[in-house]
Amino acid sequence: MAKLSITELDLEGKRVLMRVDFNVPLDESGNVSDDTRIRAALPSIQYAIDHGARLALASHLGRPKAKPDAKYSLAPAARRLSELLGKEVALAPDSIGPQVRAMADALGEGDLLMLENVRFHAGEEANDPEYARQLSEIADLYVNDAFGTAHRAHASTEGITRFVEKSAAGFLMEKELRYLGRALENPERPFVVILGGAKVSDKIAVIENLLKTADAILIGGAMAYTFLKSQGMETGHSLVEGDKLDLARDLLARAKERGVELLLPADNVVVDKASWDGDPQASAPRACAVSDIKPEESGFDIGPEAVRRFSEKIASAKTIVWNGPMGLFEHEPFDRGTRAIAEAVASSGAITIIGGGDSVAAVAEAGVADRITHVSTGGGASLEFLAGETLPGVAALTDK
Ligand code: 3PG
Repeated sequence: MAKLSITELDLEGKRVLMRVDFNVPLDESGNVSDDTRIRAALPSIQYAIDHGARLALASHLGRPKAKPDAKYSLAPAARRLSELLGKEVALAPDSIGPQVRAMADALGEGDLLMLENVRFHAGEEANDPEYARQLSEIADLYVNDAFGTAHRAHASTEGITRFVEKSAAGFLMEKELRYLGRALENPERPFVVILGGAKVSDKIAVIENLLKTADAILIGGAMAYTFLKSQGMETGHSLVEGDKLDLARDLLARAKERGVELLLPADNVVVDKASWDGDPQASAPRACAVSDIKPEESGFDIGPEAVRRFSEKIASAKTIVWNGPMGLFEHEPFDRGTRAIAEAVASSGAITIIGGGDSVAAVAEAGVADRITHVSTGGGASLEFLAGETLPGVAALTDK
């Protein structure tokens, strides 16, 4: 990697501010319900502690309205981190100010504290230099291990780098960039990309960029209906983005020109409803060819023939990137397509990379996460990276 690594910093006795992404889900009692992102940052945190850093961790949680809000406090994350480290992690009452400075000054080598949610200040998302400077008052060195937030040019991910001696990538950041970067630059072939989710509009830039490198792109989820409709097919009430039909047609044509196989589902699972809320009045879900959807029906999952054809492609791949579910996977029986694809990806023997909250959740629910090479901790960040965009939180780090 062209950027400085945490391993290239002399941390001993230094005041280190580490940006982590502890934007984690909380349960009804306010406890962390999924600590994946906290666990993922442990190697960098442990390394900094072991190397004698005086460590302050910064993160956001949720989208508070630029003022303190107990609902978005990082207290649950600090508690969970304490349990995982087996070491007290004090939570500062704020991210800047005299009290925070006093707590940071009191840290000995190998001690750490957690700052309160950086988004309690408007300066964070505005990337205000004054807020970034105030954050840097407790830091000689900066480490960014928050891959999930690297697509945001905020004060704690970008602005702060102008006020410290050196800025380096943490282990999680490096790992994410290594896997995603290799898939884009030098994938073992065949390179198969699986895209799903509701809207084509969310994935346009990714499809355009991956048309340059992928051998095949498999499209599931509701976004497939925009492609099918663009080919003049009846899609009933299925979700279609009417203003993206020309674009879908153009993407299909460009894929053909470039020799990239763009595979749409051959069949799907439909009911006679425009939306699905478990309505007992709805017809029983039925699998049918995509050419047989009736005007009153909508598709909510890929069908068994699509699963078979997609799985065949997946089995032949050497590199797989997957983002987005194949159907309405949070509702049975429309979870079957996504689960089957999760199983096919896990059994492929390929280098497998999964990003995006829903596909990551699907892989976890299907019980195959431990058979995936790399499960990304970034949703938006991994999509922007796959779209070929520069991540501001990475660009701002010190060059080697
Ligand atoms: C995420 O969960 O994708 C990151 O933490 C970024 O959060 P944001 O979309 O609120 O900036």
